[in-house]
Amino acid sequence: MRTKFFVANWKMHKTVKEASLFFQDFIPLTKGINDREIGIAPTFVCLETAEKALKNTNIKLCAQNVFYEKKGAYTGEISPIMLKDLNVEYVIIGHSERRKYFYETDEVINRKIKACIDENLNVIFCIGETIEERQSNKTFDILKRQIEKGLEGIANPEAIVLAYEPVWAIGTGIVASQAQIEQAHAFIRSQLKKFYPDKADRIRILYGGSVSPENIYSIMNTENVDGVLVGGASLDPVKFAKIVNYEK
Ligand code: G3P
Repeated sequence: MRTKFFVANWKMHKTVKEASLFFQDFIPLTKGINDREIGIAPTFVCLETAEKALKNTNIKLCAQNVFYEKKGAYTGEISPIMLKDLNVEYVIIGHSERRKYFYETDEVINRKIKACIDENLNVIFCIGETIEERQSNKTFDILKRQIEKGLEGIANPEAIVLAYEPVWAIGTGIVASQAQIEQAHAFIRSQLKKFYPDKADRIRILYGGSVSPENIYSIMNTENVDGVLVGGASLDPVKFAKIVNYEK
């Protein structure tokens, strides 16, 4: 009932030329796949190239960030309207790297999510605890706060996909165990049920953090995992295709 979703988050990687080469190799590897969704989030400068390359495919164009105002004197920022104009379908919001390096608060994240929904953009809303928070048994408090504040005032969650990304698993090669993922995803689902009793079961929850072709099968076979958000391994077309086709 929840379509599996595999999303590449390229972060600050790939020039326009490198992005084109990726698409040349990756698109043929996805031919015939129609039972799952694939998304690619390149940098802003590669969005137009990506949009052209993905035009006749089912692959969804995603963005890594957005600002919450429609337009105005916000040097360096990009609005939801501009993303929509480029046929972006999903925007990643709340990534731990945005929270850490760009000081994004739960309130800012909430405004960004609302701004996307207003423009009919879907959102991949990232949450997750740091290692210190996990070690001091605060994981669930952190997830609860991030969900409550991030989704505050949002009555309809239909445009939202959650992504659980434990910060300690991102880019470290240390993937969360199946038990850790299962526990966190079950907790997230239970929190969503509090806000959206009738709709929570339809909200997809992705896992992110050191996903690779080697560990994807066990991750996807974990209760309440509806897909993955992939950083490092998504930069290589063959590796990302193996992740998307994880059963083979
Ligand atoms: O958004 C994806 C992410 O943060 C995970 O990165 O490199 O651990 O797959 P990575």
